[in-house]
Amino acid sequence: MLRIGMLTSGGDCQALNAAMRGVAKALYERAKNVEIYGFEDGYKGLIYGNYRRLSPAEFSGILTEGGTILGTSRQPFKLMRVPDENGLDKVEAMKKNYRRLKLECLVILGGNGTHKTANLLREEGLNIITLPKTIDNDIWGTDMTFGFQSAANIAAHAFDCIHTTAASHGRVFIVEVMGHKVGWLTLHAGIAGGADIILVPEIPYDVDKVIQAIEKRDRAGKRFTILAVAEGAISKEDAEYSKKDREKKKKDSKYPSVSYELADQILKKTGKEVRITVPGHMQRGGSPCPYDRVLATRLGSAAAELILKQQYGNMVGIVNGRVEPVPLKKVAGKLKMIDPDSSIIREIKAVGISFGD
Ligand code: F6P
Repeated sequence: MLRIGMLTSGGDCQALNAAMRGVAKALYERAKNVEIYGFEDGYKGLIYGNYRRLSPAEFSGILTEGGTILGTSRQPFKLMRVPDENGLDKVEAMKKNYRRLKLECLVILGGNGTHKTANLLREEGLNIITLPKTIDNDIWGTDMTFGFQSAANIAAHAFDCIHTTAASHGRVFIVEVMGHKVGWLTLHAGIAGGADIILVPEIPYDVDKVIQAIEKRDRAGKRFTILAVAEGAISKEDAEYSKKDREKKKKDSKYPSVSYELADQILKKTGKEVRITVPGHMQRGGSPCPYDRVLATRLGSAAAELILKQQYGNMVGIVNGRVEPVPLKKVAGKLKMIDPDSSIIREIKAVGISFGD
């Protein structure tokens, strides 16, 4: 009997179901007497013992389905060692439920926070395999996370739509893209969507440089300018602040996000009204694109192989195009950010896109 637990944790994204299907199908194909238990709403299900046995039929027909059949929730890593309101020790509760079900291994699909808790469970002696999901593509140790390409398609489509209306009216537009503390999604969607200015957290911007880029386009006779602004973009000025002061400024700010502050600054300095579009959670929704379906299926299948070989304590990543196990202890707690000196930034600057630096 091979008993496997599965859970999806943190913000959802496309291809979570495709990845779980990949794990399950590869296990059913290659092992006898496989039982898969799904924990509901991420680590919460593991803590409180909310799970159900999943039948092979539940993994059929979900390749193209967005969201997660298991549900998900955010359970902050920093609170994992803090007892819940009833004094329950969450880590001990997770271990107890794992052992009660006599699981051989737990397959965890998640992003950065999820990986920290997965590593903690590994340190506590559980057999863990993880799969890297997130639209942010910020997980260290993998070239690509599933969900990212689907989200980039949706965000790029937002730019396509904005292009026609921006051109008709001759306006300045900001499209604010998700991505948390990193700029991968903004960079890719901005390039694919033909943005003229791309602002990412890794390259703090100077408002005057942003305005110079808009005015340069005006002088060249361009009727409009489109900015791709990461939700985590930061000005050079704010980058000088301590983390604490930055958080205080954000809390006290009258602007709902960085894009609104920037739009106001552009208006005050140039008299140009700026329109803002925030695609928001649309970027995480809907069916995975073919790239993500393929990636998630490959990673899921490789996870099953690691289980069969009992190579636990790994995330399945894609490294230089090859699917590989990456030790969880190396992954946990690190963020994969854009290198401002990388070739993609040089290439994109060379075609005249401004990063406001
Ligand atoms: O990590 C995925 C992500 O969509 C980020 O891009 C974004 O900052 C965050 O989650 C939003 O979180 P929530 O869905 O909890 O509002």
